[in-house]
Amino acid sequence: MTEKETDAVGDDVNPVQEDREGDSSEQRQMNNQNASSEQIPNASGVVRILPTNNGSLSLENMQPDMRNRGKLQEQFARLTTERWNLRRNVSFNNISAFPAMPTGEIKASSSNLSLVEKFQAAAIPTSDSHQGTEPEPVFMTKKLVVVMVGLPARGKSYISQALSRYLNWLGYHARVFNVGSMRRKLLGTDHKAKFFDPANEEGSMLRWQLALETMNDMTHWLLEDHGNVAVFDATNSTYERRQRVYDSLQEHGIRVLFLESICTDKSLVDRNITATKMFSPDYVGHDPEEAVMDFKNRIANYEKAYESLGRHPDENDYSYLQTIDAGKRLVLNEITGFIQGKIVSYLMNTHIMPRTIYLSRHGESKWNVTGQLGGDPPLTERGKSYAFKLAEFINEEFLLQGKELPIVWSSQLRRTRQTVEMIPTVNVCWRALNEIDAGKCEGMTYDEIKKEMPEVAAARKKDKLRYRYPQGESYVDVIQRIEPVILELERQREPVLIVAHNAIIRAIYSYYMGVSQEECPNLDIPLHHVFKIFPRAYKCDCELINLQVDNIYNNKTPEDTPKGNSPLQPSSRDDLHTYVSTHFEAMLDAHGNVLAED
Ligand code: F6P
Repeated sequence: MTEKETDAVGDDVNPVQEDREGDSSEQRQMNNQNASSEQIPNASGVVRILPTNNGSLSLENMQPDMRNRGKLQEQFARLTTERWNLRRNVSFNNISAFPAMPTGEIKASSSNLSLVEKFQAAAIPTSDSHQGTEPEPVFMTKKLVVVMVGLPARGKSYISQALSRYLNWLGYHARVFNVGSMRRKLLGTDHKAKFFDPANEEGSMLRWQLALETMNDMTHWLLEDHGNVAVFDATNSTYERRQRVYDSLQEHGIRVLFLESICTDKSLVDRNITATKMFSPDYVGHDPEEAVMDFKNRIANYEKAYESLGRHPDENDYSYLQTIDAGKRLVLNEITGFIQGKIVSYLMNTHIMPRTIYLSRHGESKWNVTGQLGGDPPLTERGKSYAFKLAEFINEEFLLQGKELPIVWSSQLRRTRQTVEMIPTVNVCWRALNEIDAGKCEGMTYDEIKKEMPEVAAARKKDKLRYRYPQGESYVDVIQRIEPVILELERQREPVLIVAHNAIIRAIYSYYMGVSQEECPNLDIPLHHVFKIFPRAYKCDCELINLQVDNIYNNKTPEDTPKGNSPLQPSSRDDLHTYVSTHFEAMLDAHGNVLAED
């Protein structure tokens, strides 16, 4: 095993904070924001590609916005009430009551009457449409909507979901609003290609109406339910439609970033159609060949009116980003601000090619046995047996199947390096993968902390995610620290085995499986098991493999949620099953359907 050490990433993003004890939660949030701002060199690498306005945030320019927020919310509350009232009365005859709607009535024929009725019934907001716990607002100057643009089957929903998962993982409140789901919710699934023909006046009206419905939900969520970033997932394929969307969001003081996915590679589009669209609820029970034909006709209909971003001169002032052929080329225009920079850097690093990621904690260490936190202890004999079993497992997965060994990433601590040392490949040791820093509590057991520092035990129990150990880290810090590792991981096209620590594997697992920040610190990540993750469009699959090595340490921590809250049920090598995590639901729409075009 050859080792390469890397701490460049850790140094870049882990701002040294001398005494972190006693920060208030607000202060911590500010610190975290400042810490993020220090990552701007990463993001501004992106801005450098096409210099526009200065995208950096400072407290000076945040404060006026914060003061305006109250006013904005007041104004919005009034507008929303008016709008909800209008919605209750919606019908095809007062369709022009919506701002920026195409004027003129739809001639209701007997064949479309049932659609009209369905629409009217469903347009009344239901009490559960905005349900959810009250998340803590994240410190962000302005709300942002990422407006997707692109023909069907260009990976828009994939990008939307991945982006939202990433932003949520970072602690922003992000959500995808999909017009296709709204169509199915309000009008059902029976829409053939002709519905999407721009010459179909009724279809066009309905599609705009559905877009408005979705935007209403979206602005409500952003301005009243503490949302930070919404992704408006629809084709938005003409200049006129984008202009309406833009104006309507601007009216609420919401920033807009257009994100267009363009595919010049026909094979990519075909692959996307067969990989995802055939599972669309629009084609359940249809003959696959007919479904493909209809979907291709749908695309052809969109193509008739399609206008790429920037073709109209007025769009030169919009913030937009075009990703061409699954990220092969990016075009940036007027990208400003921290969060937009983050989105750009994310898209620069991600791809959709299939590969596998293996995650494991190190083998049992001497301090696992004594129950001490952190430190740099070596493995026990059982830990060494796990190292051997892991090497055997990797051999079975790769060499015995005629594949090259994966890259191995470990932390810089002894227990992870010893765990991978029997795997005959290069091990990259990341400082950023070191275990959560327990600061003054390093080397103590949970019982000792409870006895000698009861305030620490109590505060951590109260808010394990945000609680920062005296002179140490919180889970929020850990997530920020490993973000560059995630981006590096996203860049990889070959399999990677990561051997790290409890908190670190929790955070990486959460990223892939869409586990919320709140749940992340309590995930049960057992010793001597391997998580095998398959990143996929819309969702990641995962297997948990038990390599059958005993350990004394049973991963019991005082803050852990009760037993049974393990993310997956383990399987042994002899009895392999794929377990689909419940977190996958986050990748589907509210009805459990794969998201699809409007
Ligand atoms: O106990 C093993 C360990 O890796 C410690 O070094 C670390 O402090 C702890 O797990 C993290 O788990 P928790 O956040 O649940 O205390």
